[in-house]
Amino acid sequence: MPFTPRSDQQIYRLDYLAPTFTIPLLELHFTLDPEVSRVRSQFKVIIEEGIELPHSIKLHGSKALFDLQLKIDGERVEVAPLLDEAGNLTLTLGEREQLIEIENSISPAANSALSGLYLSRGIICSDCEPQGFRNITLFPDRPDVMTQYRVTLEANRCYPILLSNGNLVEEGSIDEERHYAIWEDPFPKPTYLFAIVAGDLQFIEDQHIRPDGRPVQLRIYASKENIGACDFALASLKKAMRWDEKRFGLACDLDFYNVVAVDDFNSGAMENKGLNLFNTSCILATKAQATDQNFRFVEAVIAHEYFHNWTGNRITCQDWFNLSLKESLTVFREQEFMSEVAPGIRRIEDVNFLRLHQFPEDQGPLSHAVRPDKLGSIENIYTTTTYEKGAEIIRLYQTILGREGFDRGFARYIKEFDGMAVTVDDLYASMKMENPRLFENFPLWYSQRGTPKIQVATEYYPDKREMRLSLKQFLFDPVTNELQEPLPIPIKYAFFNREGEMLLEETYTLTMAHQCLIFHNIDEVPVISLLRDFSAPVTVDYPQSIDDLKILIQYESDYFAKWEAVQKLVTRVLFNRVLPREEQIEIIGDALAPLFEYAYQAPEFAALLLTLPDNDQLFDRLENEEILPLYQLKREVEVGLAKRFSTQWKALYTHYQEDSVAARAIKNVALRYLSHLPDEAELAVIQYAQADNMTDINAALIALLTNQNPQAETIMQNFYQRYQEDALLVDRYFALLGGTPHLTMDDVAMISAHPAFDLKNPNRARAIVGSIGRNRIALARIGAPLYRWIATEIVKVDKINAVTAARLITPFAKLARLPEPLQDEVRAIGQEMLDSQEISHNLSDQLKRILL
Ligand code: PHE
Ligand code: ZN
Repeated sequence: MPFTPRSDQQIYRLDYLAPTFTIPLLELHFTLDPEVSRVRSQFKVIIEEGIELPHSIKLHGSKALFDLQLKIDGERVEVAPLLDEAGNLTLTLGEREQLIEIENSISPAANSALSGLYLSRGIICSDCEPQGFRNITLFPDRPDVMTQYRVTLEANRCYPILLSNGNLVEEGSIDEERHYAIWEDPFPKPTYLFAIVAGDLQFIEDQHIRPDGRPVQLRIYASKENIGACDFALASLKKAMRWDEKRFGLACDLDFYNVVAVDDFNSGAMENKGLNLFNTSCILATKAQATDQNFRFVEAVIAHEYFHNWTGNRITCQDWFNLSLKESLTVFREQEFMSEVAPGIRRIEDVNFLRLHQFPEDQGPLSHAVRPDKLGSIENIYTTTTYEKGAEIIRLYQTILGREGFDRGFARYIKEFDGMAVTVDDLYASMKMENPRLFENFPLWYSQRGTPKIQVATEYYPDKREMRLSLKQFLFDPVTNELQEPLPIPIKYAFFNREGEMLLEETYTLTMAHQCLIFHNIDEVPVISLLRDFSAPVTVDYPQSIDDLKILIQYESDYFAKWEAVQKLVTRVLFNRVLPREEQIEIIGDALAPLFEYAYQAPEFAALLLTLPDNDQLFDRLENEEILPLYQLKREVEVGLAKRFSTQWKALYTHYQEDSVAARAIKNVALRYLSHLPDEAELAVIQYAQADNMTDINAALIALLTNQNPQAETIMQNFYQRYQEDALLVDRYFALLGGTPHLTMDDVAMISAHPAFDLKNPNRARAIVGSIGRNRIALARIGAPLYRWIATEIVKVDKINAVTAARLITPFAKLARLPEPLQDEVRAIGQEMLDSQEISHNLSDQLKRILL
């Protein structure tokens, strides 16, 4: 295949070339030390039959490797001439089978990027996805090269625990000071799933019994400060294992399953084979320190990483363009698992998250296809598009094919591709083989970027008793503005009469740009509920009357559709500029009124129904960010609702004092409203003082901060004093401060000078810079100075950790929507960052797309 090197620093999916060799076994030996660790590696390269010799292969390396030595078939070879600028090595092999021996050093303590081998609070650990292995040693660092690993770890006894993937086959003493452990992973795997950990760790353990009776030993390792907060994660792991056996017939393939918690981690967690690594933020959970939301999150992430064992590890991705293959399937499986924990709730939260994060991403300069054709930087496709839109696409398969058809397709995929590195086309092929009626154009979901828009119009013909529904779909490329191909879009809908009875319930899959559905024997104009269960990741333009929405709010049984009716109604009313304030409050109040009784039947769901649309959701609809007036308006409406229903809110608040997730959810919605009333200013103060759990403490703090309670500052200080030893709670402290709508540049200066300010720990950097970056109200109010502060901090983070910095850039991605002159100012700030020349490839890739 002709290969033309390109000059634009982009990589192209179609440049993919399959490996020309195999490496059945890799033997790695680590002499671990935080300052300088020595790595010895040994492997045989077998060049495929049919490939002409001599043949060149590429071993990926990086600047992080030093003191390199190389032997081929026992002969010393000089390394330097074979290395390129990035540190990759090209080997030209004359024999079909040759033995490569490599030695190199690395410095975990110097690795602030946290990719490869690094140090986290005294624990030596690794993180290799997607391309961190090249920071450990020279090897083909690509997901389609699968190798069996045998790993020897040697370290001082002050690192008593030595872990790697697979099974511990030997351990022992070297001398008085040093010891070793040997691990073998029976499953061939790509480099990105490799992991090691060495440290002074403690563990908790349990057992899971597989359907065939064989046990899996489960352990969670953490520092002695953290080990007490891991029980919930361990219980969740067992639950996830059981669920995957039941739903998909997939059992754990390992006898030992280890999980390790570390404080410094770029992402949430990592699915390394048999040795998951977790950010403490995704694993620690005690009632005193974690909110109910955190608990759900821990359960979900534990399940997610475990589910990767089949969707990701046993079957992996051919290349990183196909990252969504493993992530989308795994997120979908995680969502299905969690929907059993809290039926209905998780779906709403997922849709809300998707619309809050993925939709803006997909409609702005960082938009990319779920499987892109070109990329500036691989690390930059770890996005909500790859994960959450990807998961919606998997859900589309299920919605179109039905649960049974989907499960058959999935089972076939697992069977056919087990042990292989494949693509989203392979998944489609399995689904199609089992379900021949699956639409041929389904894969367009993977290749076209942007959010499809559905335009709906209805007509009723009383004489013919006929209802017509006209549906048009549009998908514009968000960057080029070109109209793209129509997609298969399943629309779940139901008709209700005005008494709230459901008349019909169906799913229809649109496939063309314009389609018209005709319904016969319809006696009166029905109330139509469209896109029930959010059956496709699209926006729907269907103006419905307030009366119709009220019927749906009251009678819909579909969780999402009922919630969506509230969202729509409130949004409609808030954006109605001719209605006087009092009337806006009255209409919304009338619509919510019936839900107060419902709150006693379904408190957790009612908590969602009674919460007005997220600020950001509303801001995204504004033409040019008139954020502050809208924020003010929403607040006044909330105050109005607090007054009108003050009896009901108080009743709910007192009634729901019990210790349960649902009770806390509805109680804290009541707190939110009541705290808007000057007479109730003490409520949050008292709740803060008396609470025995972080959910209630957190809700109290938010109420105090958003209402500028005179005691807010003292209480925040008290919070910090109380929890300053607990890193995750210090993160929470910063996130609360950074997220408050009243944030000023003085506050920002206070945060910058705070003794716990730190950009080296990714959680802390995100808690500080991320929360301020997401604070649209403060950004709108303060303008350029705050953007400048954020830019400066991102550049500082970039010097430490480029992956983390690039993910903090999102506030700049909304640039085009800013009003002038702010837009120009912010553009100039972005341009300055880009021009500073010292920024990383990851960050400049993001900035270039934003500033284009
Ligand atoms: N693969 C991880 C997950 O989603 C995320 C991750 C990405 C971890 C990159 C480490 C590095 O489960
Ligand atoms: Zn994942």
